Amino acid sequence: MRKPFVAGNWKMNTDSHSSISLAEAIASGSSDIAGKSVSVAVFPPFIYLQSVFKALNTSNIAVGAQNFYFEPDGAFTGEISVAMLKDIGCTFALCGHSERRHVIGESDELINKKVTAAISGGVFPVFCVGELLDERKASQTNEVITRQTKNGLAGLIAEKISAVTIAYEPVWAIGTGLTATPQQAQEAHELIRNLLAEMYDARLAEEIRILYGGSVKPNNAAELMRQKDIDGVLVGGASLNADDFLTIIRAAV
Ligand code: PGA
Repeated sequence: MRKPFVAGNWKMNTDSHSSISLAEAIASGSSDIAGKSVSVAVFPPFIYLQSVFKALNTSNIAVGAQNFYFEPDGAFTGEISVAMLKDIGCTFALCGHSERRHVIGESDELINKKVTAAISGGVFPVFCVGELLDERKASQTNEVITRQTKNGLAGLIAEKISAVTIAYEPVWAIGTGLTATPQQAQEAHELIRNLLAEMYDARLAEEIRILYGGSVKPNNAAELMRQKDIDGVLVGGASLNADDFLTIIRAAV
């Protein structure tokens, strides 16, 4: 049985005060269920990771990073390593988020290096895949998801793959207010689970959590998470409002 997982991606938002107050409000409002019937994680900007980690310290809410570099150390100005994330208490890290793929220009190959480095360094990757609007219109959704999933997980042996959470985030639904219908999302999730069964085995495919992301809000979260292969949600905009995020966390249980 897969425990539901609700993750909040704060992107390039909050400041030194609001990041702490948001973390505290989420922790106090979810203390009866977070870490028990639902896994909860927040992904603040790098610069607030440590203070958010401290603010969440007695809660069961995990902290994740939005990004990192795959090299262990050295002359990589401006970059952050997996070991540094681990050092300050990060449990998770996003890999392959659409804004990094399409705004920053990260390739499948780079994303694969990151997923691999995160697992080796003991940080659980939340590996994102998803098609652009033009790709969906051109009926290329399955092809894009298949390519991104296979390339992103290339070379990872079965013992490593259980460390991965996958997030299906159709790019046309991110930050747009357009959500995939529960049926569209379920179809994509089922495709990903079948791919995992093909690449690894059916038992592993059943264990891996696949989250949906893209304009998840308090009013659509429950129905999305009722779908058979949707094991939780990766929330952007609505995770910046404690009440909205708490409603979404409760919708998971
Ligand atoms: P959104 O972002 O909920 O604001 O659409 C989701 C994401 O990018 O993870």
